[in-house]
Amino acid sequence: MSVDAPVQRYHFVQRGLHWLLALVLVGQGIFGLYMVTMENSPQKIEFYNLHKSVGLTILVLVLLRLIWRWRHPAPPLPAHMPQWERLAARTSHALLYILMLAMPATGLIIGFASGLPTVIYGLFNLPSPIPANEDLMHSMSAVHFYLAAALLLVVLVHAAAALRHHFVLKDDVLRRMLPLLAGGLLATGLLLPGDAQATEWQTDYEESRLTFIGSQSGDEFEGEFEDFTADIVFDPETLEDSRVEVLIETASVNSGSSQRDNSIRDEGLLDVESYPEASFVADTFWETGEGQYEAEGELTLRETTREVTLPFTLEIEGEGPERQARAEGELTINRLDYGVGQGQWEDTSQVGAEIIIRFVIHAEASGS
Ligand code: HEM
Ligand code: HEM
Repeated sequence: MSVDAPVQRYHFVQRGLHWLLALVLVGQGIFGLYMVTMENSPQKIEFYNLHKSVGLTILVLVLLRLIWRWRHPAPPLPAHMPQWERLAARTSHALLYILMLAMPATGLIIGFASGLPTVIYGLFNLPSPIPANEDLMHSMSAVHFYLAAALLLVVLVHAAAALRHHFVLKDDVLRRMLPLLAGGLLATGLLLPGDAQATEWQTDYEESRLTFIGSQSGDEFEGEFEDFTADIVFDPETLEDSRVEVLIETASVNSGSSQRDNSIRDEGLLDVESYPEASFVADTFWETGEGQYEAEGELTLRETTREVTLPFTLEIEGEGPERQARAEGELTINRLDYGVGQGQWEDTSQVGAEIIIRFVIHAEASGS
């Protein structure tokens, strides 16, 4: 990947949670060490309750983060990374998640075993599921402390590894978790249903074309679908939020011969009466080169859906809301894979099986 190519970042929710949790965890650790050294006082009780409340918040955030992570895989690691490093990264990330869960878990047990009330932000008491138990409290307190020390150690190695990637290996690994500020700020809006952050585009149908090339009696012919809609949410910076949905009115086919169009609309081929719509929906994209992408999606013809990978080029001109985009690509399919060829039309001697679908889409960023 060239230095200028957009970085495949973690989703902004994941970045926001990462830095928010990093900050709060460090604060929680320092605060924990401080509060245990205090003389017994009402203030100490208050601080313990604050530590427990923040600890519980951390638990909720880590669980949210894990759910999010489960639904949104991490972006692929740089291709040059050796196997042992990938394994080390995966293991240390898993260890960090385990420690982030074990801290609140052991903390809660200390609180419950102490027999003292666990007051959350002065709002409610967490009922204890266990009877007071001094021994358990002391042993868990030691475990809580050693886990905090282990967390600190793993975080230091983790941060050193991230800095090594950035400054020594000079790859994109640290940038995948940045920008720090935007991520942190956005995390505050985290609990709102996170709508896609990628740009929405308005398709310019005057300039956009959806065409195909087929063959009849060995001769190529070109056709076009005149009526289609393309809903595009796409951003090279946030490929993970991007989504494209194209709906095609099958009856709008025009291949320059009304006789041929009637055959294409016929029951044996597109059967436009029973299947008035065809569609292409994609929400997985990756970059293959400068301005070159691939979309993995589902193409549906005659209600038969197949996974396809569609390569396309994209040029974006202008800045911000003034941006204009032009995307172009093509895909070769076998019409028989979609049942486009029933009865006598299954025969490919006159109408070839291979169809090349081509598109040129012009669009402008919405909100301009
Ligand atoms: C989630 C991240 C957490 C971190 C990083 C953290 C860190 C710490 C640290 C460093 C100490 C001082 C340990 C010592 O020197 O004895 C401590 C003590 C303590 N923590 Fe946490 N804690 C967390 C969560 C919690 C939670 C969720 C609770 C309870 C609901 C809790 C309850 C306590 C209690 C009661 C102590 C005092 C233990 C004692 O008196 O020895 N902690 N914590
Ligand atoms: C308390 C502190 C921290 C914790 C608990 C923590 C935890 C994590 C975890 C669990 C992941 C894996 C994310 C996933 O794939 O789901 C991660 C990724 C990452 N963290 Fe941290 N982190 C902390 C601090 C830092 C610091 C200080 C840095 C930078 C100096 C950093 C840089 C990164 C980077 C670059 C990644 C992405 C790695 C990749 O591309 O796979 N983290 N962190």
